Amino acid sequence: MVTLSLVLLLFSVQWSWAQEDPLLPFSEHLDPELNVRLRWGFDEIQGTIMFELTVNTSGWVGFGFSPKGGMTGADIVIGGVGPKGSYFTDRHAGGNSMPVVDQQQNYKLLSLTESNGKTVMKFQRSIDSCDKDDLYITNLPMKLIYAYGQTDDVTYHSTRRGTKELNLLKYMPRVNPPNSNFFDMTMVNFTIPTNQTHYHCKIMKAPAFDVKQHIYRIEPVITNVDLVHHLLLYRCPLSVTEPLDVECYTTVAGECMEVVAVWGIGGGAFEFPEAAGLPIGGNVGDFYYRLEVHYNNPNESAGRVDNSGLRFYYTSELRQHDAGILMTGLALAPGYAIPPKAKSFLTYGLCDTSYIPQVLEKPQDLQVFTVMLHTHLAGQKVRVGHFRGGKQIDLLAADENYNFEFQEVTNLGKTKTVKLGDKLLVECTYNTENRDTLTWGGLSTSDEMCLAFLVYYPAMNLSGCLSFPDSTALGYAMGATDINSFLNMMFTKTWNDTSINQYQQTLKKIDQVVIVMNSFNNASYNKGTLPDLKVIPPAPCMNGCVTKHLALLSLLLCLAVHWAFF
Ligand SMILES: *[C@@H]1O[C@H](CO)[C@@H](O)[C@H](O)[C@H]1NC(C)=O
Ligand SMILES: *[C@@H]1O[C@H](CO)[C@@H](O)[C@H](O)[C@H]1NC(C)=O
Repeated sequence: MVTLSLVLLLFSVQWSWAQEDPLLPFSEHLDPELNVRLRWGFDEIQGTIMFELTVNTSGWVGFGFSPKGGMTGADIVIGGVGPKGSYFTDRHAGGNSMPVVDQQQNYKLLSLTESNGKTVMKFQRSIDSCDKDDLYITNLPMKLIYAYGQTDDVTYHSTRRGTKELNLLKYMPRVNPPNSNFFDMTMVNFTIPTNQTHYHCKIMKAPAFDVKQHIYRIEPVITNVDLVHHLLLYRCPLSVTEPLDVECYTTVAGECMEVVAVWGIGGGAFEFPEAAGLPIGGNVGDFYYRLEVHYNNPNESAGRVDNSGLRFYYTSELRQHDAGILMTGLALAPGYAIPPKAKSFLTYGLCDTSYIPQVLEKPQDLQVFTVMLHTHLAGQKVRVGHFRGGKQIDLLAADENYNFEFQEVTNLGKTKTVKLGDKLLVECTYNTENRDTLTWGGLSTSDEMCLAFLVYYPAMNLSGCLSFPDSTALGYAMGATDINSFLNMMFTKTWNDTSINQYQQTLKKIDQVVIVMNSFNNASYNKGTLPDLKVIPPAPCMNGCVTKHLALLSLLLCLAVHWAFF
């Protein structure tokens, strides 16, 4: 009985430790004494960021952003729960003096509580700054400042203050779990050819583990920083059972297309969230992986030997969930082509999760924490629309400046739930102005793809959720009688703005073949149509005048400013 309750206790402790708030996935203590804890999360599509500041005090608490780490020029919020109720204001500091209340209140209080000597203040703001007294939140490290008092009399904080530098929007902590180790998957003494551009592919096995491990960090290992341009690691299906070391796209090594990791110039390590790890070993299956390295050798240097690749950190201390990777978007289908001379050509692929139960027993909702967008050289933009009940509810991810050469993976600002029954529409925008011939769907970098890889938990035995335009419907819509006449039509067509636009509209309108594939290569095929994708406008700047917790003084100031505009 005693042991049982002890076990239960251990379980409950572990649970509360590993449980994450989907809206606040990131957490750091701001002070060395661990009295001040900041949790945060953000929505890049809406342009908002949410904070939860927990301070070991029943007095006032303050938090803000500072250009140089001190008070001068800082953008500050101060709040607390006092004898007369809670108070919360957006302020700014001119120097080492009491921060003054901003004329515009752009921080929105979500909740403010005090219990057991702890004050918890949850608030939200725009990532951009809404007025001259607030600072922009950038995707570079920023200096965060905090202070707190022992009472609710907001006076000098004495030594209860500090500064910490953090990159809030590209947060990649470096954790060191117990029982951890690493292995590398790299090129081995590969002599870089003297061609200006070379894509090298190496298919290899990951080390075998008897017992399942969790990969929690993936780090680039680059031995020729001047020549290695970018690299991708793909997982192969279980049907691939032989190693290979060849120039990419010269042989049929193409089945390995499940992107596991990417690195591009300027990119860094990727760290999984605390709640999940990528499983390897045990009964997970002995997969082969394809490492694809793009060498860029403009000076045609000879005799350079390369050992670049990726380092995988793993631990036997398993996290709460296995992470999985799901490929969504446009399936590689015969006959799919992008016309030449197009300024911006739109391509779509649909994932309809309502068909997942056709290939999987007991499927679950997907908690998505990263989305890796993937096109080749012609890709300019990628957006992933999220639909529920026939309505678009979000963009799961979007990159308006996609560049194949600069791929980088970061965690989403919040964990997003894709419920069973939701649809995801992957939209890719291509530019083929400098091409004279059709660009086909395919694996080579001169062919095209339109994919979004969702990294999610809990992992399911699911590999793809894709669609492609029904070729019969396409041929019919284009006035072709069979596949040959369709291909002939595509090759001989005069591609100008009008014909490109007509073809694009046809592709958007006709039926899609909707596919869901499980990890054992069983697939379901259904018909579907593409919904319309809307761009979601960013949330407007928050106006504190409507915040009910606002201090009277700032409310008056705020109203005064508004009256002045009338
Ligand atoms: C909170 O502060 C009190 C008084 O300074 C201290 O005794 C206690 O250990 C602190 N608690 C935590 C969790 O740091
Ligand atoms: C790679 O080259 C180094 C240096 O020449 C050599 O020591 C090493 O044994 C080589 N590794 C393999 C696997 O050939």
